[in-house]
Amino acid sequence: MQTDFLIIGSGLAGLNYVITVARKNPDKHILAVTKGNEDESNTKYAQGGVAIVHKSTDSFEKHIQDTLIAGDGLCDEEIVNMVINEGPKCLEELIQLGVNFDKDDLGNFDLGKEGGHSENRVVHFQDITGHEIERSLIREVKELKNVQLLDHHFALDLITNHHAEVKETELSCYGAYVLNQRTNEVIKILSKITFLATGGIGQVYSHTTNPLIATGDGIAMAYRAKAEIRGIEFVQFHPTALYEHDVSPTFLISEAVRGFGAKLRTIDGKTFMENYDEREELASRDIVARAIDSELKKRGDQYVYLDCTQLNEHEFKEHFPNIYEKCLSLGIDPLKQLIPVVPAQHYLCGGIHTNTWGETGIRNLFACGECAHTGLHGANRLASNSLLEAFVFSKRCATRASELIETVPLNSAIKNWDSKGTSTPEELILITHNRNAVQNIMWDYVGIVRSNKRLKRALKRLESIYSETEELYKRSTLSPQLCELRNLITVAYLITQHSLERMENKGGFYKIDLDD
Ligand code: FAD
Ligand code: SIN
Repeated sequence: MQTDFLIIGSGLAGLNYVITVARKNPDKHILAVTKGNEDESNTKYAQGGVAIVHKSTDSFEKHIQDTLIAGDGLCDEEIVNMVINEGPKCLEELIQLGVNFDKDDLGNFDLGKEGGHSENRVVHFQDITGHEIERSLIREVKELKNVQLLDHHFALDLITNHHAEVKETELSCYGAYVLNQRTNEVIKILSKITFLATGGIGQVYSHTTNPLIATGDGIAMAYRAKAEIRGIEFVQFHPTALYEHDVSPTFLISEAVRGFGAKLRTIDGKTFMENYDEREELASRDIVARAIDSELKKRGDQYVYLDCTQLNEHEFKEHFPNIYEKCLSLGIDPLKQLIPVVPAQHYLCGGIHTNTWGETGIRNLFACGECAHTGLHGANRLASNSLLEAFVFSKRCATRASELIETVPLNSAIKNWDSKGTSTPEELILITHNRNAVQNIMWDYVGIVRSNKRLKRALKRLESIYSETEELYKRSTLSPQLCELRNLITVAYLITQHSLERMENKGGFYKIDLDD
């Protein structure tokens, strides 16, 4: 297959790029592949909303300051300025794309508050903002005549100089090898410009709010292709995932619930956030997650409680219908009973390093959204800045790619995927065991609080799973499960190695023995 623009991923970053390049280039062909159902993504599960300066008492300066404070000195200020200033335009365009946002009785946007924000500035649709965004963008993509969207197509590897018959000197991307999951065939997709929007890495951990697709494939592919990976040690843990024994992914209890007035309590009913930060429940995520972790370790408890019993019943049900229903389905009435919560992996602040236009160090390869490192988040992402970043950067990438497209030739002298010497997949159980093993190693040794000793132990164990999995990979026919396992191991290795190398605690990164 060949195309002008190849897009890998159909979350907000992928879909908004598709829409923008398709509109800018009506005579070009755009091909998007996604490994699950077309709407399956982290985007679909976003709850709180999109942080945007809107009301007159707020200002760009305040949002910029909040972002910089959360990022703990490691944000790129130029990027922060640019993204935050684009917020109002982003809101306007999302509305034009058909996305609904809640308004109050006076017709003004209902603005939620989340941790680290000095103002109410989060536009949302109930507590299912991501679902509403994903629905609207997919509908728009379907209207575009020059776009082909292939679901259940798993990108295996980027095509670079390594696969080209004629070698160029500059490292370049010529498309990707993709597994059609329905026919089990590997397709060579040649593309002038390739866009990675593969999302997060939550499945590296045994407790995560991310869905099963979040296996860091784009980061692993880019790393194999020799792109630069930055800031991957900055893993964000959300303080309040619903505690359910042995359930993963975990259901999120949005930070907006704390913004609404909910309090955290230990299981004997005592509040504790006042001992950790003057902003209490609305301190930034890293602080609240570490405070909960510390209380759990001190007390030997499995969870803390989120207390919503003092909140206005009507307003709670109106703002958080999805959370309310989920709790009821488990026998918890959140307005009468306390909700058990625990921190879980939620977001990756680092990833494939890009410039201000979303270009990676590999020519004609862009990266955007959660898989990318733009410099916006620094050491810790401010709540609800991720959807904003994905929207703003996907548009910038589309602008830059549209400028480039006429100058990029299609390289068709590319080798076919070599699957010689492989046989039917080994028992899936071997793959599942190793996936669980990686997740447990990462949760136990590379979690909220790290130490060099634990990181070294993690590395040793990961190395042995890596060798075993590479052996399996060499002799087995490809399966998405096996490819995801390889990618998870790569990402786990990168997080651990970067954590060992980091000699300073910042934002979401905390190591107890920096000097050892
Ligand atoms: P995603 O939306 O994750 O999309 C990635 C896509 O790539 C998916 O379609 C996936 O199937 C596809 N893909 C992955 N690997 C491959 C492969 N190998 N081949 C083909 N396709 C592939 N952020 C906010 O700003 N506000 C919020 O309120 C908010 N709430 C959240 C709540 C939850 C529960 C979660 C999990 C996250 C939340 N976030 C929120 C974070 C935010 O949703 C994500 O960071 C953002 O949606 C990422 O968008 P994306 O397009 O980069 O990736
Ligand atoms: C939430 O609603 O708590 C998640 C918001 C985010 O991840 O930005």
